[in-house]
Amino acid sequence: MLPQKKIWMDGKLVPWDDAKIHVLTHGLHYGMAVFEGIRAFSTAEGTAIFRLDEHIDRFLNSAKIYRMDLGHSKGELAEACKELVRNNPAKECYIRPIAYTAYGEMGLNPLRSKVSVAIASWEWGAYLGADAASKGVRAAVSSWARIDSRSMPVQAKCAANYANSALAKMEATAGGYDEAILLNTHGMVAEGPGENIFRVKDGILSTPPASSGILRGITRDTVIQFARDQGITFYRNDSTKEELYTSDEVFFCGTAAGIAKVREIDGRKIGYDGTPVTDQMAKLYAEATHGKIKKYEKWLAPV
Ligand SMILES: Cc1ncc(COP(=O)(O)O)c(C=O)c1O
Repeated sequence: MLPQKKIWMDGKLVPWDDAKIHVLTHGLHYGMAVFEGIRAFSTAEGTAIFRLDEHIDRFLNSAKIYRMDLGHSKGELAEACKELVRNNPAKECYIRPIAYTAYGEMGLNPLRSKVSVAIASWEWGAYLGADAASKGVRAAVSSWARIDSRSMPVQAKCAANYANSALAKMEATAGGYDEAILLNTHGMVAEGPGENIFRVKDGILSTPPASSGILRGITRDTVIQFARDQGITFYRNDSTKEELYTSDEVFFCGTAAGIAKVREIDGRKIGYDGTPVTDQMAKLYAEATHGKIKKYEKWLAPV
């Protein structure tokens, strides 16, 4: 990671190297931290943040689920993200707001802790590799089930959820794969450790429903809107891993990963005849994020 100049901490921009917290910070010990992953892109009109509103809404909702009062309004948080990007050298960047239970109290009742909010930004290439969109990645179905919403709220983007993701990611990469695919506790396809998943079969695009225990991705919603606008038949439905193996196309999508083609799952090559729908979605995503499609300019917040 290339250090930037500033990090926003509790309302102030502080120098990158001074953005430090105590080792007894409550959230570090008990996983009480909710966060977001957002991206800013360059456009002909300057740098703009993609779907900032929706990301801040999800951040506030994650905080609500964990009874955290962020102490900043939606408008203040959105403005803080823009101010940070304006003050850092990287313009095309990843933006990470995080709210966590701060230093002061220990023990399992987070309601006794003060909540701190920080926002960092840095340059981050495509998470699954620059050629993930064109060449595709190799994925493995994980032996770890996606956390169940009866145990942990999967709709909250909470740091604690990512222990489950990290176990799956480690297993996949240690086994020589690029990424994991997690099934839910009912054995149905859920998502990647940090991405949603789509499949195409006989021209029909589909993705697991929110009830399958996924994070409702903002890129997932973007792809759904593209599909509607392109007249592609689309369903939210459950699928098994063998339905993935026999799909014509499979792709991951997320803010960090962008649109990443899956070319192989558990040693089975996916599809026979190219990846027209994945390619179309990747092209639309690249164009929309860079302000090249009028209709989707509404999703770009200039900094
Ligand atoms: C578990 C999980 N699923 C899906 C996604 C994709 O969400 P988004 O498209 O909003 O980045 C993410 C990334 O935030 C994630 O962490």
